[in-house]
Amino acid sequence: MQNITTTLKKLFYLWKRSQVPVKQPIKISRIDNLIIFLVCILISIISSFKLLLISPLNIADIFSWLLTFFEILVSTGILILVSKKENPTISSRQIFLIITLLLAVQATKLALASTISPLSIIIPPALIISQGMGSITALTWVSIASLSWPDPSVTINNNLFLILLVCASVVSLLGGRIRSRAQLLQLSIFVPIGALLSQWILVGKEKTSLIDNPEFVFVNGKIFSDFLLLAIVMLFTILFIPIFESIFGLLTKARLLELADKEKPLIRRLSFEAPGTFEHTLLICGLAEEATRIIGGDVDLIKTGALYHDVGKLHAPNWFIENQDGLKNPHDEIDDPFKSAEVLQAHVDEGLKYARKNRLPKPITNFIPEHQGTLKMGYFFQKAKEKNLMINENNFRYKGPIPQSKETAILMLADGCEAALRAMNINASDVEALETISKIVHSRQKDGQLDNSDLSIGEIFLIKRAFLNVWKRIRHRRIQYPTSKNNTFS
Ligand SMILES: [Fe+2]
Ligand SMILES: [Fe+2]
Repeated sequence: MQNITTTLKKLFYLWKRSQVPVKQPIKISRIDNLIIFLVCILISIISSFKLLLISPLNIADIFSWLLTFFEILVSTGILILVSKKENPTISSRQIFLIITLLLAVQATKLALASTISPLSIIIPPALIISQGMGSITALTWVSIASLSWPDPSVTINNNLFLILLVCASVVSLLGGRIRSRAQLLQLSIFVPIGALLSQWILVGKEKTSLIDNPEFVFVNGKIFSDFLLLAIVMLFTILFIPIFESIFGLLTKARLLELADKEKPLIRRLSFEAPGTFEHTLLICGLAEEATRIIGGDVDLIKTGALYHDVGKLHAPNWFIENQDGLKNPHDEIDDPFKSAEVLQAHVDEGLKYARKNRLPKPITNFIPEHQGTLKMGYFFQKAKEKNLMINENNFRYKGPIPQSKETAILMLADGCEAALRAMNINASDVEALETISKIVHSRQKDGQLDNSDLSIGEIFLIKRAFLNVWKRIRHRRIQYPTSKNNTFS
């Protein structure tokens, strides 16, 4: 009977682990929720109030206003939901940014729709959103911003509307993938040129209809000046993106790659003051990058996160084994497991301080505490036990939190496997290496460290294979090539 219960429990555990759990989104405070709701109401009012200014007003007009009002309100709600789905850790500041941009666009349309091309109003904000929040959020934003026009007297040419949708969609799709400021610049030149040519071909020929419609938002002779305006606004948007990054905590691909530059002062300090930790960091970058690529995670994020995960060791580099030259170990000198555990925890606390001082974005800072999770400092815990001290296991565990994303979980596993793989015999077989990796991964799993990470069993399997592939590369590099007797090299 007991066997059946155990088997059922095991099956239930396996089933539970094989299901990718839905990530709990970041909690947004009630005040923030209220402000967001009020801004959404404001957007709906701005987008629909002109329908109430018709005189005489009848029931059908009021009904049409109510319909438009709720249509915009529901659309903004869907926009927020989509942004939360695409960015599970989105903050209230970032939601403010999305809806404030929508509010600004609707207000601009109200004031300037008959004088400025809609391309210059909608495309630049779409670029900011796609860069900071991803392509799907940007596409949703573009569809709401393009479809809702607050002033019913403004009519838009169908061809111009088509050009607007195509250009804004291209910017949204490419903006989410662009990895450098140079590519952004190219986009800000080619999109206006594309818009100019397509307007010239599709809209420029409709001379009669343009003259016939004085309210039309776009006059033929303005094609070139509107192209210039779009190019200038896009260039200014690119200039302002770094400011948006720091105010709203956006993490664009370009910012990630800038932070991954090894010439950054903090990384330079790590390479000088803690060379062992720097080497360990580089090896972990390799392991984590391969594993993240194989499961389809965010490679740029983990590469940068891995680079900063142990910067806290700068506070006392020689207390960590990788920086000791084998002569003396300060932990042996103090011979106090409690103090040693405090020094180990301090590499997380100090790391967070360095991150704050260097204004690292939150997704990067998360790697600092989460790579250690609530792991047990086994060596010092054993030492304390040997001394028969009254010990509480929690004093020998990191404060956490445990990894909250796939990327931080992969870094934790890479951190655990790095030293073991480095120490392995050069003649060790693949099976032995995989066994070592599996043992470390399994111990983290059993300890509950991966419970909030969303990693499925299949992904953990792939991560282990990826680590093995990196180990094979390391082993290959360590094999010395036989040199010929006359010492000639080719
Ligand atoms: Fe660490
Ligand atoms: Fe580490």
